Amino acid sequence: MPHNSILAPSLLAGQHARLAESAAQVAAAGAPWLHLDIMDGHFVPNLTFGPQMVAELRREVPGLFFDVHLMLDEPQRYAKAFAAAGAQLISFHIEPSLDHRALLAEIRALGCLNGIVLNPDTPAEAVRHLLADVDLVLVMTVQPGFGGQPFRRDMLPKFAQLDAWRREQALNFRLEVDGGVDLKTGVECRAAGADTFVAGTAFFKAPDRASFVREVSAW
Ligand code: DX5
Ligand code: ZN
Repeated sequence: MPHNSILAPSLLAGQHARLAESAAQVAAAGAPWLHLDIMDGHFVPNLTFGPQMVAELRREVPGLFFDVHLMLDEPQRYAKAFAAAGAQLISFHIEPSLDHRALLAEIRALGCLNGIVLNPDTPAEAVRHLLADVDLVLVMTVQPGFGGQPFRRDMLPKFAQLDAWRREQALNFRLEVDGGVDLKTGVECRAAGADTFVAGTAFFKAPDRASFVREVSAW
C-alpha cells in the first residue's frame, strides 16, 4: 500500500523576522508537517537557524509534526540538540563522510524518526545499503541552500528507483521530495513514487494555502 500524501511546507520561504507567524500560517492552512531547513554555511552556502529557534517554534505550533532537514557537514554533533528542541523527524545528508548507520540509530534512540538525504548529483545507489534502517529518504530536486529554484525533472528516475527497491524489499520508508515542488511538479513526483512533499515558495505564495494543502493531500 502506498503511503498517503503529506505536505511539509518549508519555513525557509516564510518571513524570517516573524517565523512564529509563518509557522502559524502553516498550521492554519491545515498542513500536517512543518519542514525546517538547518544550514551551517559549510555544507551549503547559506545559514538559517538552530535548535533554540526550533524549540521556541515548537511551543508556538504544538500540533505540527516537525520535519528537520539538517544541511550540515557534521550532523552527528547536533542530532541530540534538535531532538531535545522537539524535532520529530531528523534527516541528514549521505554526502559528508561519517558513520551514517550509527547516526540513523542514534536518531531513533533519541525518540525521533530518521531520514537520509541525497543531493541531485548523488545516485540512489549511495543509500541503497541503508534502506532497511531508514524511516524516510529525501531526494533533493534542487541543489540545497536556497528556496525558489527550478525543479530538476531529471531527478524523477531516482524516485522510481527508490520506490522500486522499496517494493522489492517490502520496506516502508517514506519518499520525500524537496526543491521546486508545486502543484504541477509534485504530481509528477507522486507518479514516480514520492509521498511526502516539501514546498516552500509555492506554498507561501499560494493564493489559497488551505486549498493547496487539500490538493496535495488528495494525491
Ligand atoms: C533548499 C531547502 C528546501 C527549500 C525548498 O535547500 O532544502 O527545503 O525550502 O524551497 P522551494 O520549495 O522554494 O524550492
Ligand atoms: Zn529542505
